[in-house]
Amino acid sequence: MRTYGFLGAGHMSQAIIRSLIESASVKPEHIWVSNRSAGKLDRLVEQTGVHKAANNEELIDKAEVILLGVKPQDLVTAVEPIASSFDGSHIVVSLAAGVSLQNLKKLIPNVNQLIRIMPNAAVKVRRSVIGCSVSGEALWLKTLAQDLFKPLGEIVFVEEGEAFEALTVACSSGIGFVYELMEYWQDWLMDHDFSSEEARRMTVGTFMGAALMAHETPLTTIEELQNKVVSKKGVTAAGLDSIRELEMERLLRISFEKAVMRDRELGRLD
Ligand SMILES: NC(=O)c1ccc[n+]([C@@H]2O[C@H](COP(=O)([O-])OP(=O)(O)OC[C@H]3O[C@@H](n4cnc5c(N)ncnc54)[C@H](OP(=O)(O)O)[C@@H]3O)[C@@H](O)[C@H]2O)c1
Repeated sequence: MRTYGFLGAGHMSQAIIRSLIESASVKPEHIWVSNRSAGKLDRLVEQTGVHKAANNEELIDKAEVILLGVKPQDLVTAVEPIASSFDGSHIVVSLAAGVSLQNLKKLIPNVNQLIRIMPNAAVKVRRSVIGCSVSGEALWLKTLAQDLFKPLGEIVFVEEGEAFEALTVACSSGIGFVYELMEYWQDWLMDHDFSSEEARRMTVGTFMGAALMAHETPLTTIEELQNKVVSKKGVTAAGLDSIRELEMERLLRISFEKAVMRDRELGRLD
């Protein structure tokens, strides 16, 4: 059985750990976790039964697959001091936004098997979209990533570069953008006399209904689905005309590009 070491017990590491355990795909006794501060790690250990590593060195010693769950800006400080403790048997999975496999290799030269993933917060409900790039062409490494992360959602293998950046923004940050839209829906309903609870329920129901219909009819394009709910000169058509006139797509594209620029900044390790 493989052993997994999570360096950093923050939001994303905890969501992955809890979902892997809930889905019964990894047993807690095969998971080791280290963290800079003690409190949250102790709570995680108590709640899930995973092992606590005394420090990052012990984590590397105990586990074969090491998942780097620190913020990109903390990556060098966390990994540089322990880089020589890695050896050729380790597989390293980085969650750090923007940090390329090439930069990871420079940071941990002893490791040849590197995987870079970009999950989103829906890991918590095991409905994440997870971007994944692996070093080299190794098929077994892709299979390992597929087997490990499949219980958490949909895995999309993608080359690094613009496509990876686009996935990061549209799918990982995308959750935040969708919530922004949901807030507009909710606020508008509240302006029209619905309580916040009713407005929330109606908003979530509308987004979920639209997403589920699209999910359940994978052969129907989004445009076709939209056409089915729009009648000529009807209410939806009037609203859509205005959305297009006000260039909502242009606005979103500009915002996505701004997010890509930040992703690039965060990924610089110098
Ligand atoms: N959250 C998301 O939705 C999301 C989505 C996609 C990707 N990611 C990626 O996931 C990674 C983690 O993000 P997050 O949101 O989970 O951040 P987070 O909640 O801040 O977690 C980072 C954790 O790393 C720990 N840490 C920092 N330096 C350390 C060190 N030297 N040794 C051991 N532990 C250390 C921190 O410990 P302390 O308790 O001391 O702060 C903290 O618990 C990032 O690279 C991010 O790009 C996150």
